[in-house]
Amino acid sequence: MEQKLENLIENNQEFKDIIKEIRYNPKVLEMQNYRQHFSTNCYSHSLEVSFYCYKICKKLHLDYISATRGAMLHDMFLYDWHEKGSHEGLHAFTHPKTAYENASKIFELNEKEKDIILKHMWPVCFGIPKHPESFIITLVDKYCATKEGLNSIRDTYRLKKAIKNFLLIMFVFKK
Ligand SMILES: [Fe+2]
Ligand SMILES: [Fe+2]
Repeated sequence: MEQKLENLIENNQEFKDIIKEIRYNPKVLEMQNYRQHFSTNCYSHSLEVSFYCYKICKKLHLDYISATRGAMLHDMFLYDWHEKGSHEGLHAFTHPKTAYENASKIFELNEKEKDIILKHMWPVCFGIPKHPESFIITLVDKYCATKEGLNSIRDTYRLKKAIKNFLLIMFVFKK
């Protein structure tokens, strides 16, 4: 996660209060151990999705509390989906249900939070979001996944450029 976004999150007391119970739960913290898109882990991805959902839903006078909570739990599937044998079925289709089952064992989730988690992969998965908050997370989730991919490409490009420059300097000095 970019430093700027991290600062925005840490300086937003209301957002932090809404997800306090969820964010520091040991089982939720476990998400830090699992890779999500590229170099991002599930925890960091969910925190980012949750923050954007909070901002958008609050601005639109929607139920931003359920949106924030649901978004923080939307990818709580607790395994590394890149690893063979880590899960049954096709991850893209099955993980919303797994995330809901894991989350509902620990937290009391309302109907909207349930819908947010279960439908967040729409339209890849069937099940049309029932609430505007659920629809917003489908967009925010895809936006964050794309951003994480682009950041990864940018980092790889920067690393390659740094290696190239280093080799060039070495070559010049050798002369
Ligand atoms: Fe997901
Ligand atoms: Fe996600």
